[in-house]
Amino acid sequence: MDARDHAKELAAQRALEFINDGMIVGLGSGSTARHFIRLLGARVQTGLKIRGIPSSKNSETLAKSLAIPIIDFHQTSLIDVTIDGADEIAPGLALIKGGGGALLREKIVASASKKFIVVADSSKIVEHLGKFPLPVEVIPMAAPLVAAKLSALKIRAQVRQQSSGGDYITDEGNLILDCDCGPILDPRALAAEIRAIVGVVEHGLFLSMAELAIVSSENEISILRP
Ligand code: 5RP
Repeated sequence: MDARDHAKELAAQRALEFINDGMIVGLGSGSTARHFIRLLGARVQTGLKIRGIPSSKNSETLAKSLAIPIIDFHQTSLIDVTIDGADEIAPGLALIKGGGGALLREKIVASASKKFIVVADSSKIVEHLGKFPLPVEVIPMAAPLVAAKLSALKIRAQVRQQSSGGDYITDEGNLILDCDCGPILDPRALAAEIRAIVGVVEHGLFLSMAELAIVSSENEISILRP
């Protein structure tokens, strides 16, 4: 495990302090969330009683392999706490998420949560959002149209590709446009502009959602609040 991955694991470990018996826990996606799910699984195996709602098929598969009981929104509409990673964390806990392609379910799970906690290594902290390409999930047939409308907003959009070749397809069967927006100085205005484009399903700006962020470097953990 390299130093950055170790920092991710430390943040995930700290997040366990927010989990109590009886809770419904939102399970994030990505490598930091995977650390959390593994650690949570170990606690379940020693008697912790929780139920999880995963934010991606990958996280669901991992949770099931660890015997974490899984439920969905047919059984509850309220999650006690969700633990998830982020691609960028700016002041006020404005986030870019979706680097792993799971932003839609992640946002649904976060929005149903009493408490949304971000876990990350310190490389994710930024002064303002926008260096990381903003993922935007779109209906496949609308992708060229949405890209053209984004271009009119001076945003360059590229359809995400799989490493093995071909378009990346989300859990919901959509495409992801990775968007170079430049520095995002007004995330709320940008979110409104993108959301107004027909064919956009969801974008990776998570604003006013996170209650705290657990951010770890190799030897120090900080708790950030909005
Ligand atoms: C997936 C996400 C992840 O939380 C984000 O990409 C961070 O990933 P990692 O923990 O691997 O750095 O939003 O859609």
